[in-house]
Amino acid sequence: MPEVNELVNGVFWVGVRDWDRRLFDALVPLPYGTTYNAYVVVGDKKTALIDTVNPGFEGDLKAKLDVLGGMDKLDYLIMNHAEPDHAGTIPFVLEENKKLKLVLTEKGAKLAKVLYHVPDDRMMIVKQDDQIELGGKTLRFIEAPFLHWPETMFTYLVEDKVLFPCDFFGAHSAGGVFAEDVQDLLTLAKKYYGEIMMPFTKSAKQGMAKLEGLEISMIAPSHGPIHSDPEPIVLAYLDWTSGETKEKVTICYVTMWQSTKTLVDKMVEILLEEGIETKVYSLPVSDMANIAGDLVDSRAIVLGSPTVLNGLHPQALYAASLVKVLRPPAKYAAVLSSFGWSGGAVKQALEILGPTKIEVVGAVDVNGRPTAEDLKKVEELARSLVEKVRSG
Ligand SMILES: Cc1cc2nc3c(=O)[nH]c(=O)nc-3n(C[C@H](O)[C@H](O)[C@H](O)COP(=O)(O)O)c2cc1C
Ligand SMILES: [Fe+2]
Ligand SMILES: [Fe+2]
Repeated sequence: MPEVNELVNGVFWVGVRDWDRRLFDALVPLPYGTTYNAYVVVGDKKTALIDTVNPGFEGDLKAKLDVLGGMDKLDYLIMNHAEPDHAGTIPFVLEENKKLKLVLTEKGAKLAKVLYHVPDDRMMIVKQDDQIELGGKTLRFIEAPFLHWPETMFTYLVEDKVLFPCDFFGAHSAGGVFAEDVQDLLTLAKKYYGEIMMPFTKSAKQGMAKLEGLEISMIAPSHGPIHSDPEPIVLAYLDWTSGETKEKVTICYVTMWQSTKTLVDKMVEILLEEGIETKVYSLPVSDMANIAGDLVDSRAIVLGSPTVLNGLHPQALYAASLVKVLRPPAKYAAVLSSFGWSGGAVKQALEILGPTKIEVVGAVDVNGRPTAEDLKKVEELARSLVEKVRSG
């Protein structure tokens, strides 16, 4: 029997569990897989499907819908988000049920056209606060752009106070039905926030503002478990979207022959001595999701890299680019480097970090293996960084 869970009366989870997926967007590691959550809301007169699933799971979705009376029973398909992990099987569902209307935002319609070639006459465009009556169940739409694409919206089930926010409030975990079933869910949710939502902090804040005053008794996102008690995840999101940082430093480094590592070790020693929360990632063996999670509330970032072919080591170049695109709220940065003859790593790091809002407190660039004097410079830089981090 396919797994179908009734969350509240007339509201069913018909999502799928992708236990084996290990990479998202060809970038984000998924150690615990993920889910693509889709939901059915059954009213007295009409039935709606909220989002679909990743391509490849069409048969699973169909089998689940069969448990609830089949695809023919559906009147509306709500597209909260056009990304293929939720919208990729829309063409399949529209083909199976020819009377079904696809409900989406105006920007959603544009994307549905180009990504899935949905004809105009199958689409029904909705705006902020528009509602669809299913009979005893009312779906209200809340435009929430850039969470995580320009077209995204939330769907709110008025009578049962259930929020379907798609990617927002999600986490990557294939296991568990409800939040309490998943160990350390907030840690997973924080990494996910760092990877997916942190670049859109302003939109995330606006999304949170739109939810103010809305009574919510359950949050049913499109990845990971369902929050039957919304409070912990809402409080966490208020914190993460605030952009407030902690007395915390995240260090990302790469070394080939240990010189840069020696500089990093000195930096870590001083930071720990000063009681600063310090997270250290050796880039070639680190999961970028853990780094993204730590960047959510780090006040400073330290990048360590030797010079390779006149610039940053490719791993450090990747990390610096990530910092640039993820737009973490960090205020300060420092660079540690070792070079053999020309140098160039520090220059490239400054070129990348320069245009960001992050203030580069200093850099130590050492020729070859660090001497006692070089380590003294690292110590001075570390102390300046500590002062900045403490000052807020
Ligand atoms: C593949 C490779 C390319 C390098 N390219 C440069 C370079 O263009 N300019 C330079 O000054 N040093 C270059 N170096 C030398 C390293 O920057 C130098 O050995 C440094 O001390 C290594 O730091 P590490 O011990 O942290 O790996 C290169 C080293 C390697 C292995
Ligand atoms: Fe998405
Ligand atoms: Fe998604």
